[in-house]
Amino acid sequence: MTSAADSSNSSSSLPENATPSGTAARAPAAATPQEVLWIHRWTPGLLSLRVTRDSRFRFTPGHYARLGLPDSSGPAVFRPLSITSAPAEAHLEFFCTLVTGGAFSSLLDRCRVGDPVQVEKASYGFLTLDALAPGHDLWLIASGSGLGPYLSILRDPEVWSAFARIVVVHSVRRAAELAYAEELEHLAQQRSATTAAARLHYLPVVTREPGVTALSQRIPALLADGSLATATGLSIDPEHSRVMVCGNPEMSRELRALLSERGFRTTRRGVLGQMAFEKYW
Ligand SMILES: Cc1cc2nc3c(=O)[nH]c(=O)nc-3n(C[C@H](O)[C@H](O)[C@H](O)COP(=O)(O)OP(=O)(O)OC[C@H]3O[C@@H](n4cnc5c(N)ncnc54)[C@H](O)[C@@H]3O)c2cc1C
Ligand SMILES: NC(=O)c1ccc[n+]([C@@H]2O[C@H](COP(=O)([O-])OP(=O)(O)OC[C@H]3O[C@@H](n4cnc5c(N)ncnc54)[C@H](OP(=O)(O)O)[C@@H]3O)[C@@H](O)[C@H]2O)c1
Repeated sequence: MTSAADSSNSSSSLPENATPSGTAARAPAAATPQEVLWIHRWTPGLLSLRVTRDSRFRFTPGHYARLGLPDSSGPAVFRPLSITSAPAEAHLEFFCTLVTGGAFSSLLDRCRVGDPVQVEKASYGFLTLDALAPGHDLWLIASGSGLGPYLSILRDPEVWSAFARIVVVHSVRRAAELAYAEELEHLAQQRSATTAAARLHYLPVVTREPGVTALSQRIPALLADGSLATATGLSIDPEHSRVMVCGNPEMSRELRALLSERGFRTTRRGVLGQMAFEKYW
């Protein structure tokens, strides 16, 4: 297992059965001082932020970094956050839910442009393209801020030549939480117009405002009753489809069970699988 201590300046993956950094406030072995460049509030409880990036910081789209916020009452509070920016970009971007009363969320809520932050030197994660066997269609399934890692994947050129079709399914409680919808709709239109690259289907799912989106049930129900397949015209099977899941852990568990029943497997002992998961809490 690669630990933060021995993998500074390099991207790394933990084995599937290892506990990722989790939400514990573990102080990282090595971090670099950075600065907040930009903050965008989608709703009072959802924001995106960009921070400066150390020129030696490397990551693979889909990875997360550990961000540290200074706390006047003690040591900096570190949390893992998926990187939403592309590797080619000079900054690092993150998409965050502010959890009421959460130690990190409370500090992040007060963060302003110009404030200092720390970024652990290593990056980690399971949601990378090389964690899946080659396939025809890529399904990027998210709830809430679980959309984050997919933005990095979609902002990088590799995915567009690796798959014929890409589907983003993003489930949120309310329409205002459909962050990045404009960018995803734009990508969907742009990619439909080109024949050389993969086509993108964007399927927003709002669960607590009936009628706002065509799909309004929870994602496992939409998979089970065939709605996702109908909405895209794509079958979901281990031969053609590759699936990534990120966000609510209960949703992940349910999807893992449903996909396993269909014959999907995660990557194990060097044998590439058809599905991959990232657990946020
Ligand atoms: C690998 C990994 C990647 C992550 N990437 C992101 C990310 O890109 N964006 C992000 O917002 N969070 C992400 N998280 C969660 C993040 O690390 C923190 O837990 C979150 O910022 C809240 O921190 P906190 O100290 O305020 O509350 P914590 O004490 O860490 O969490 C309190 C509770 O809040 C809930 N919670 C935590 N995170 C979320 C969330 N994202 N959405 C909804 N409910 C949540 C859970 O019930 C949790 O038990 C990630 C976690 C992991 C393990
Ligand atoms: N979202 C925000 O802007 C916001 C703001 C402040 C604080 N918070 C706090 O953050 C926490 C989580 O909020 P969140 O809305 O980001 O995440 P969430 O509760 O995980 O909801 C995000 C989406 O996932 C769906 N979902 C929840 N459980 C599921 C399951 N078991 N299977 C399938 N789908 C499931 C939800 O559907 P349902 O609607 O059916 O549950 C919703 O569409 C809460 O404690 C909340 O109070 C959120």
